[in-house]
Amino acid sequence: MCGIIGVVGSTDTLATLLQGLQRLEYRGYDSAGVALVRAGHTWRARTAEGTESVAALRRECADAPEGYRSGIGHTRWATHGAPEAENAHPHLDCSGHVAIIHNGIIENHTELREELRERGHVFTSVTDTEVVAHLVEELRASGFDLLDAVRHALARVRGAFAIAVMDATEPDVIVAARRISPLVVGTSPGVTYVASDVPAILGRSTAFYAVNDDEIVRLGPEGFRAVDLEGAPVRLRQLQIDWDLETAEKGGFDDFMSKEIAEQPAAVRATLLDRRHRDGAIVFDELRISDQELLDVQRVVLVACGTSLHAAHVAKYAIERWSRLSVEVDIASEYRYRDPIVEIGTLVIGVSQSGETIDTIQAIREAQRRGARVVAISNIVDSSLAREADAVIYTRAGLEVSVASTKAFVAQVAALELLALRLAQLRKTLTPEEIERYVAGLNEVPDHVATVLDRRDDVDAVARQLLDARDYFFIGRHVGYPTALEGALKLKEITYLHAEGYAAGELKHGPLALIEPGVIVVAVTTDPLMHEKILSNVAEVKARGATVIAVATDEDGRIDAVADFVLRVPASDPMFSPMIDIVPLQLLAYSLARGLGRNVDRPRNLAKTVTVE
Ligand code: AGP
Repeated sequence: MCGIIGVVGSTDTLATLLQGLQRLEYRGYDSAGVALVRAGHTWRARTAEGTESVAALRRECADAPEGYRSGIGHTRWATHGAPEAENAHPHLDCSGHVAIIHNGIIENHTELREELRERGHVFTSVTDTEVVAHLVEELRASGFDLLDAVRHALARVRGAFAIAVMDATEPDVIVAARRISPLVVGTSPGVTYVASDVPAILGRSTAFYAVNDDEIVRLGPEGFRAVDLEGAPVRLRQLQIDWDLETAEKGGFDDFMSKEIAEQPAAVRATLLDRRHRDGAIVFDELRISDQELLDVQRVVLVACGTSLHAAHVAKYAIERWSRLSVEVDIASEYRYRDPIVEIGTLVIGVSQSGETIDTIQAIREAQRRGARVVAISNIVDSSLAREADAVIYTRAGLEVSVASTKAFVAQVAALELLALRLAQLRKTLTPEEIERYVAGLNEVPDHVATVLDRRDDVDAVARQLLDARDYFFIGRHVGYPTALEGALKLKEITYLHAEGYAAGELKHGPLALIEPGVIVVAVTTDPLMHEKILSNVAEVKARGATVIAVATDEDGRIDAVADFVLRVPASDPMFSPMIDIVPLQLLAYSLARGLGRNVDRPRNLAKTVTVE
């Protein structure tokens, strides 16, 4: 939910920190701060100006002192304590020498705070994080070096953290550690970095390393060494990062969201690449589950949040239709609290773009505790979800920076449908010819998506006429239903307008009462098997005064007579249509949001990765 960055040995420490914070803003941003540390001196600046916090911090640092080779920086999305400057990180101990930044939640901070207060510590914030600064202060005073002081402090802490700690009495050292919240270390000659994720230090660091849970890293200008909570040395796994700086920038687009919408053909193509063995078998090199274990699967449960949950809903139709396995989809934050049933042969699939969504991670942990085999669908290599699952399939959508998830959705559907075909292949519920036909259909999706992208002017023309609309319903049937859910989520999260996704057949069971002139109904009508039904739903809402936008295939000759606006897409097998039909809905949300002057990459109240429950 927050972003952290640290650097040791730098000749442009402040510039490094501010650039990194700017790239981390999408992780959360209602306040920001930096601390510069050298022998005997800790200098700090903090701001709390919403989505402008990092820009304000840059101004605040205009008269920062020179000569500091090390420092830490933080962007905050408030969990404990209001989003005000005194709660912004870095936090200091009583001496003002120890500075700490933190992403996560310390669950036992109240008891620790009381204990520390009784020993005379004075707190200047209401955050959970500050307790660690005072714990470290005490341990440093009792003679531990910074590494062991942090290590012993963390032994007292329950909860999630990615932290970085400095102490002006041990200059040019950062001690960083993680539990659940993501953390990477970077190195370049004479300079060492730590950050919540890669983009923050891309272009500066030349090598990247993943930090695992309960690993503590001491960074100095010469490099780093890592230990576990007991102090035993551990080796960090090096990450293969082939992103250039361009990847992390906007690549010539106005914003990350339009760049990532445009990258969807490539995202699907890359996700499907090299997934066939010479003998025709569908393969996932990174999947660490044997064919026999897949054959033993008796039931599938998908758990996810947000956009990833909608991809999971699409997968339900594909897995059931092709492999004849029963599939259940559940909201990750609900799954773990409902005493879920896990029998022998239950496969749980956690779907997550970031692989760091704590709700999804905790759901798969619950499933594992009950004996389920777990597969992660993750867009980030070595993400927490990928590391904790029994097996992983990576989507290859590339870095997704915009808070509104777009290319990850289409890549997730592609990966999940390929997995569905693999299950069908192993269970022989589809003939080889049918497998070939479906795989060929999947491979045509990138071109269909590219065709729809070329029609974005048609969407803009519709959006320009709807800038005064305030109420949207998105409706669909079969796989058009999760497509409608995803279209509604895109619209609401970047325009801040009310939008609901609904199964079209449900309208008459209540929501129809809300339909009146001025309400916009977006109908996904591309499935030929559902066409009659969805047209009658369109007639129902038209009769009550709604304005209808239909997503329809190029071949549909009837839709123009019933819809006010038609957004055309190439026809495909219905099971692949969500990857195609979602594109005009993404573009509609984007165009309306831009027309309304919204910040499409960093919508209010939201963060790219939700690492708090
Ligand atoms: C989607 O546009 C939102 N950003 C949000 O719903 C997101 O999909 C959700 O938080 C899950 O994130 P994940 O895929 O990284 O787990």
